[in-house]
Amino acid sequence: MSQRVAILISGRGSNMRALCEAMKAADFPAEPILVLSNRPDAAGLDYARANGIPAQIIDHTRFESREAFDAALDDALSAARPDIICLAGFMRLLTAGFVEKWAGKIINIHPSLLPKYPGLKTHQRALDAGDTEAGCTVHYVVPETDAGEIVGQSAVPILPGDTAETLDARVREAEHILYPACLRKLC
Ligand code: GRF
Repeated sequence: MSQRVAILISGRGSNMRALCEAMKAADFPAEPILVLSNRPDAAGLDYARANGIPAQIIDHTRFESREAFDAALDDALSAARPDIICLAGFMRLLTAGFVEKWAGKIINIHPSLLPKYPGLKTHQRALDAGDTEAGCTVHYVVPETDAGEIVGQSAVPILPGDTAETLDARVREAEHILYPACLRKLC
């Protein structure tokens, strides 16, 4: 049976696009049922609308607390009934209560080879450390940031002259392959 996938974004949404493009394959055991953004101007929303995927905005700036925002998110997701929730550049920390309610169903893609470099500025930190490789990780979401069980990882080389920007571009190409592959594996 086709798994129902909700994708949460905050911006460009290139990983969301990669997931949705992969799900167009006839043999992919999942379908996108909702793209939800906390930012009204997220570029990724246009792709969802153009592809007939329900797109919803829950603007976090309209909520007084993280708990209130997460309650609205929970309402939207409960109505959509996803089997899997993919965070794809969703730049909000989720409350423990929300994460626990959806435990085992939420995955995220993070631009480092976890457990190295949880949090932000991962590429600059890898460059500063003199690492010879970087990469990305798909992992289950748990209350602690970027700490859940790993579903899959993909490494890329760090090349002489790399900047955070060039490394970001190389890692993102790997993300677009890894995330759909991990989703397929979980389905
Ligand atoms: C990606 O680098 C992902 O690893 C991180 O946020 C970025 C999202 O990019 N979580 P995009 O919006 O999917 O293009």
